[in-house]
Amino acid sequence: MSGMTNAARTIRIGIIGSGGIARAHVAAYKTIEHAEIVAVADVFPGKAQEFIEANGLTGAQAFENHRALLELDLDGVSVCTPNVAHFQPTVDALRAGKQVLLEKPMSVTLEEAVEMVHVSRQTGNMLSIGFQPRYDPNMDIIRNIVQSGQLGNVYYVETGGGRRRGMPRGTFVRKELAGAGAMADIGCYSLDMALNALGYPKPLSVSAYTSNFFGTNPQHHPESDRFDVEDFGVALVRLEGGIALNFKISWAMHMDTLGATMFLGSEGGLKITPAGKGPWSGVWDGKVGSITLFHDVLGHQTESPIPIREHNVNLFHEKVKDFVSAIREGRSAPIPGEQIVYNQAIIDGVLRSSELKREVEISLPNL
Ligand SMILES: NC(=O)c1ccc[n+]([C@@H]2O[C@H](COP(=O)([O-])OP(=O)(O)OC[C@H]3O[C@@H](n4cnc5c(N)ncnc54)[C@H](O)[C@@H]3O)[C@@H](O)[C@H]2O)c1
Repeated sequence: MSGMTNAARTIRIGIIGSGGIARAHVAAYKTIEHAEIVAVADVFPGKAQEFIEANGLTGAQAFENHRALLELDLDGVSVCTPNVAHFQPTVDALRAGKQVLLEKPMSVTLEEAVEMVHVSRQTGNMLSIGFQPRYDPNMDIIRNIVQSGQLGNVYYVETGGGRRRGMPRGTFVRKELAGAGAMADIGCYSLDMALNALGYPKPLSVSAYTSNFFGTNPQHHPESDRFDVEDFGVALVRLEGGIALNFKISWAMHMDTLGATMFLGSEGGLKITPAGKGPWSGVWDGKVGSITLFHDVLGHQTESPIPIREHNVNLFHEKVKDFVSAIREGRSAPIPGEQIVYNQAIIDGVLRSSELKREVEISLPNL
């Protein structure tokens, strides 16, 4: 290392789970100077080696067990496993001294999310969660407006979104692998955009309803016999500070939209629509389409369009780049697990409430 500036040090990366989203991580790491993928692990025999060859990761080592990968001298790992397998590789990686970029949703249960945060704290290693929409510069505009006080007392927030037809397959629709369906898969993005704008207030209670009329219908889904997660959900969440959050999501429905995201405040309201068209759009895993401020000007009910910042930022690449920069600069997690644990607490509450068919409290330990 002597004579080498910190900026030029090669950041050594491992990938755990070599499925669909791991390819996007690799594509992003490849754009970063002085970052190298040195190992890939996947429990499916032979898959890591195939992945290395298919993605031109010459010299990278393949493993079938993430613990063997973690014995290597690595700076960071991308955890790209199905939701139920987020927890173990993440805590093992943190304990092995690695910095972690974990795919969304953070986990399946609140207990797992809390434990991951504790381990990150104990070890002093970073746990960052992969919400790439945060890198849309328009998300900062939304947050700045909400945080500015322009809206007065924010008392109601509505978020979520609806795909008319956009149900994933495979690991996403089986509870034993995904833990939950649409509410966790795309709902976690909607929650992140709303909660991040509000400054991540603590959730207190949830009353939720979920259903899966589309997923379990063979006319709509080829894996209907194995589909056992929700394809639709709605929840009323009470947040600290006297805020009511109405959170709704669909992977499939007979409707064009579940409405815009909105913040209602005593002095103003903010309406936000996502960009994108087509059956898989209408949700917060992409870019912002429009932002409108509703307010009174000298007694006139006024709607002010907030100019959208046009950009060609590859949001996914930005999240991976920021993770590498944070490692290099010794910064804390760009999207900290400490924050996202509140997001997970809501999803955990949704699952419990819809099962029990009543409102449930969210009890969060001090983190
Ligand atoms: N940020 C995004 O835009 C985005 C998009 C899609 C998926 N995701 C998230 O990425 C995660 C993975 O999704 P995917 O589409 O790549 O799934 P996938 O099923 O295609 O791939 C997961 C891989 O992990 C492997 N695996 C399972 N358990 C493992 C373990 N313990 N150790 C090592 N490997 C293991 C599987 O064999 C499989 O190859 C999910 O949590 C999903 O929500 C994020």
